[in-house]
Amino acid sequence: MGPAFDALIRAAKPAEARWIEAYLTRSWGSTIMITRGVAHDASNLPALVAVQSDEIVGLATFRVAEGECELVSLDVLRHGQGIGSALLARVSEEAANRGCRRLWLITTNDNLDAIRFYQRRGLRLVAVHPGAVDAARRIKRAFRRSGSMASRSTTNSSSS
Ligand SMILES: CC(C)(COP(=O)(O)OP(=O)(O)OC[C@H]1O[C@@H](n2cnc3c(N)ncnc32)[C@H](O)[C@@H]1OP(=O)(O)O)[C@@H](O)C(=O)NCCC(=O)NCCS
Repeated sequence: MGPAFDALIRAAKPAEARWIEAYLTRSWGSTIMITRGVAHDASNLPALVAVQSDEIVGLATFRVAEGECELVSLDVLRHGQGIGSALLARVSEEAANRGCRRLWLITTNDNLDAIRFYQRRGLRLVAVHPGAVDAARRIKRAFRRSGSMASRSTTNSSSS
């Protein structure tokens, strides 16, 4: 059994915006995420943070549209301590509170740890989008010409 989970999950505060931007950029190369061919700036989305001893140790960003909640990013600084699970559970709660009928996310086929993580937590693999990473890269390049970018894509998991 791992160490007892002792992180607090709460909504990010406006004062944490710069930290979130830097963390997303470090994790994903930019704050921009491409999912299903659409670019989202995760630094502008609702965010939940996990806090341990006054330090942020995990971040989830999500967006709600058309009665569905998309988990746009999920990252932890300390792996295997239940932080990712707690953030995912809280996003799921937020989705339910906002009347969402589905929680979904996109990840890449090579992120086997994440695919296993989500499946073990009740999400189902519902679609594979061949070529999505290439398409996302094209969008990224277009974005780079006018700003900045990062991406991932292809495996669509959802729970409802
Ligand atoms: C995937 C991720 C969010 C899991 O968070 P976590 O806090 O380590 O997960 P928990 O402690 O709640 O749960 C541990 C589970 O995650 C799995 N896991 C995935 N990556 C892991 C890692 N690098 N170290 C330890 N456990 C990991 C473990 O196998 C374990 O699975 P099990 O309980 O089903 O056996 C985290 O590893 C992470 O930030 N990964 C990099 C970013 C990423 O890929 N995000 C998801 C794509 S959107």
